[in-house]
Amino acid sequence: MQVIIQDSREEAVSLAAKVIADQVRRKPNSVLGLATGRTMERLYAKLAELHRTGGLDFSLAVTFNLDEYVGLPPEHKNSYRYYMNHHLFHRVNIDLRNTHLPNGMTDDPEEEGRRYEALIDDVGGIDLQLLSIGVSGHIGFNEPLSAMFSRTRIKALTLATLQQNGPLFDHPEEMPRFAVTMGVGTILEASQCLLLVTGETKAEVLAKAVEGPVTSMISATALQLHPDCTVIADAEAAAKLTQQEYYRWIFSHDPHWEPYR
Ligand code: GLP
Repeated sequence: MQVIIQDSREEAVSLAAKVIADQVRRKPNSVLGLATGRTMERLYAKLAELHRTGGLDFSLAVTFNLDEYVGLPPEHKNSYRYYMNHHLFHRVNIDLRNTHLPNGMTDDPEEEGRRYEALIDDVGGIDLQLLSIGVSGHIGFNEPLSAMFSRTRIKALTLATLQQNGPLFDHPEEMPRFAVTMGVGTILEASQCLLLVTGETKAEVLAKAVEGPVTSMISATALQLHPDCTVIADAEAAAKLTQQEYYRWIFSHDPHWEPYR
């Protein structure tokens, strides 16, 4: 795992956008794993800007989102399909037929999990998986006690997650209590993972995720097991990491990151 600390949220978001843009330029038919939430809104705005002003071409890209709420149709403004269309897909030149989310309207979540995993396999797996972290320590909607080898399936949401995402609904009590989410095992199979974390509300959980013991109580700790995982955090989110100076030193000396500094 490599941790990159940027002084501001803007710099953290720009760096993450640059990593994704380079991936798409290097391999135009990249398979991207995508995430949702407030953190990602800024990142998608940046990618849309790179498309508009820098000609970043998504025409051959394929995407798989981490998760979708159970019971919300795609046209519901709190569904993740709606979110993705609104924040990214309708703002770039991606072919909507190449964009995938789990079907939250399924009446057979087990079958839906299998279908989703097969779709990912069919395109040869995910090249770059984008992630953020929930206050419960989840990646995707892998709430505490998600098995490290779990696959796409239905998951009940914790109270912490209901409290975190409830305010995004007109009526918080309407937030679904279940979601279909890629499993921790699914995520760990991506060739590369990129975790973007900003803001002081994430400082505690990020410290546990990066420097704490690996535990299924905090799914994000599973990323410590991934051979190619980069964490980009702003200074506020990084505030509780004990090895900040070490991480900063590595970033400033690693030739791989030369073009990004
Ligand atoms: C949702 C998503 C998670 C994401 C989280 C972060 O819960 N299912 O994948 O990590 O949002 O949310 P935010 O960026 O709003 O803090």
